Amino acid sequence: MKVCVVGTGYVGLTTGVSLAYLGHQVTCIDLDEAKIEQLRGGRPPIYEPHLDELMAEAAHNLTFTTSYEEGVRGAEVVFVAVQTPSLANGSPDLRFLRSAAESIGRTVGGGFTVVVNKSTVPIGSGNWVDAILRDAYEQHHARRAGGEFAVASNPEFLREGSALHDTLYPDRIVIGSDNPRSLEVLARLYRNVLNQSFTPPSFLPRPDQTDAVPLVSTDLASAELIKYAANAFLALKISYINEIGRLAGKVGADIVQVARGTGLDARIGSRFLQAGLGWGGSCFAKDTAALIATAAEYHHDMPIVRAARDVNQRQRTLVVDRLMEELRILKGRRIGLLGLAFKPNTDDLRDSPAVDVARLLLARGARIRLHDPVAAERFRREHPDLAENLCHSLDEVFDNSDAVVLCTEWAQYLELDWSKFVGLMNNPVLLDGRLALDPGRLSRLGYRYLSLTGDSGAA
Ligand code: UDX
Repeated sequence: MKVCVVGTGYVGLTTGVSLAYLGHQVTCIDLDEAKIEQLRGGRPPIYEPHLDELMAEAAHNLTFTTSYEEGVRGAEVVFVAVQTPSLANGSPDLRFLRSAAESIGRTVGGGFTVVVNKSTVPIGSGNWVDAILRDAYEQHHARRAGGEFAVASNPEFLREGSALHDTLYPDRIVIGSDNPRSLEVLARLYRNVLNQSFTPPSFLPRPDQTDAVPLVSTDLASAELIKYAANAFLALKISYINEIGRLAGKVGADIVQVARGTGLDARIGSRFLQAGLGWGGSCFAKDTAALIATAAEYHHDMPIVRAARDVNQRQRTLVVDRLMEELRILKGRRIGLLGLAFKPNTDDLRDSPAVDVARLLLARGARIRLHDPVAAERFRREHPDLAENLCHSLDEVFDNSDAVVLCTEWAQYLELDWSKFVGLMNNPVLLDGRLALDPGRLSRLGYRYLSLTGDSGAA
């Protein structure tokens, strides 16, 4: 099928490249010329494992352009995956979505087209996009009012760092539209993902237990709400285990065992029960804020979601509290942070707990040393005021330090030769913000192992 994707950020590019791999003819549009040039050269502008390889394999089905005319005309499906940054009041800024919809409305034609909202948009935005499309279409095609298109929602549930895996082997596909024809078109688009009949790329093998993928085919508003309900639930799960984790520390329980024993109940499920510094990234903060903002428009309160956000923010200040308890004075102390990205395998720094922790420590007068194996360059660009604190080597982070905090559980930190660094430290305090290290082993090596759940688990 002929497909167009507007916006080449994480979601757009992953969607476009995956659909091209699955055999569709995909044109990706972005207004940023430099980005398009880079993509034409086969280089993705974002860091996502295997994206360059999949792009190379699907190159014969992929076109990159800045022209709506070239991408939209004749496409059966047009995905809109433009950014929707948060406004000060928590609701998303829909400026880019509006201008994309206007451009699509002006160019769409040549057969029935499904315009799919892939950006996370407030509930009800589908109808809003539909109205903008129709206005633009009618102005441009004066005598052909009506327009052969319909709007649908197809929320993505992909995690950065596993985006391609999650696109090819999803837990479910959700499509929503108030127009039955668009639901048929989208079911056809995803046919070989739904029945898993494609040949997996050698570098992204199909997980053993993958059967046919369930399809949830529903109305527009329900599909839009599913996205928020799912993300907010995952955020709740993490904040819940962090709340229990703090209690665990107080009563002398081990949160790792508590999470395991709790999550093995199939009704609860073991994923997203990893206690620690909490969630960051582009989705959870934004989506929970937008959910609360949408609800407020309907005079509806969301106390559980608000509490999850508070608990999450508290995990960040807790790092400072734990270090204060241990070091008494933070002013002038040298504190190293391992990891800046909001999670491993990405260079994304949006709402990263590590960045907040760095700023909180600086505000207390500490001297910080920052390290990340992948996100350091992006950090330099996005946080120039903190760039002087970046270290090139781990030796620099540990040398003469009073404490080191593991903020992001990059594999290279977990596999570190920890015996090498303890002797470099002025004070061998190690705060494991992700409960990712072996407390017994580190204690035996001479570290004072701390976590955000008290000293639970430490030898
Ligand atoms: C998330 C959702 O998983 C995805 O479905 C949605 O479409 C976009 O948002 P992403 O932000 O890429 O994806 O990251 P994810 O892997 O979900 O992690 C989010 C944050 O939660 C990270 O900061 C991670 O460190 C944290 N986390 C995750 C925990 O603190 N504990 C856990 O048990 C799991």
